Amino acid sequence: MNNIVLTGMMGSGKSSVAKELAKNLLSFVLVEIDNEIEKVENLKITQIFAQKGEKYFREKEAQLINKYADNQFQIISLGGGAFLNEETRKLLNKDFTIYLSAKAETIFNRLKQDDSRPLLQNDNSIAKIQELIDKRKNFYKLAKYEIKTDEKTIKQIVKEIMEKYEQIRCKN
Ligand code: S3P
Repeated sequence: MNNIVLTGMMGSGKSSVAKELAKNLLSFVLVEIDNEIEKVENLKITQIFAQKGEKYFREKEAQLINKYADNQFQIISLGGGAFLNEETRKLLNKDFTIYLSAKAETIFNRLKQDDSRPLLQNDNSIAKIQELIDKRKNFYKLAKYEIKTDEKTIKQIVKEIMEKYEQIRCKN
């Protein structure tokens, strides 16, 4: 369990939490899978979806996760759809996987000014976000822990993760 993996919906705080966690865990490397895909493709996520399609994006996403899953001491921040892939879950659940959950209203408020999410570009309503949560939550819940992020600051969420991580390290 040498990687810390963050999953959950867009707007659940994965990237911000991962950055803050990295400040607490200096021996860990921060890996943002979406950023890695953008680097490899030399395109923004929105452009990849528009030019090459979601299927292509999902293949690249799974390939990159596969590559990083072998390394250790990483804080891996996944894109919101990555944990729906069974192979990805199998690879990563040997690690400390955390589902950052949030209510649709919370996600709506966090993302309403943001147009960088292709899946919410046509409709970013609370109803659409809720629909995605309903489709996905049973997959997210296969992570080892769930942390509810509504009304919590990034620092509070990181504190919870660190406490859980210490408990696990002491047991092993
Ligand atoms: C997606 C979430 C995005 C990005 C892509 C697809 C999803 O990442 O991977 O737009 O399917 O939920 P974030 O969760 O970091 O926004």
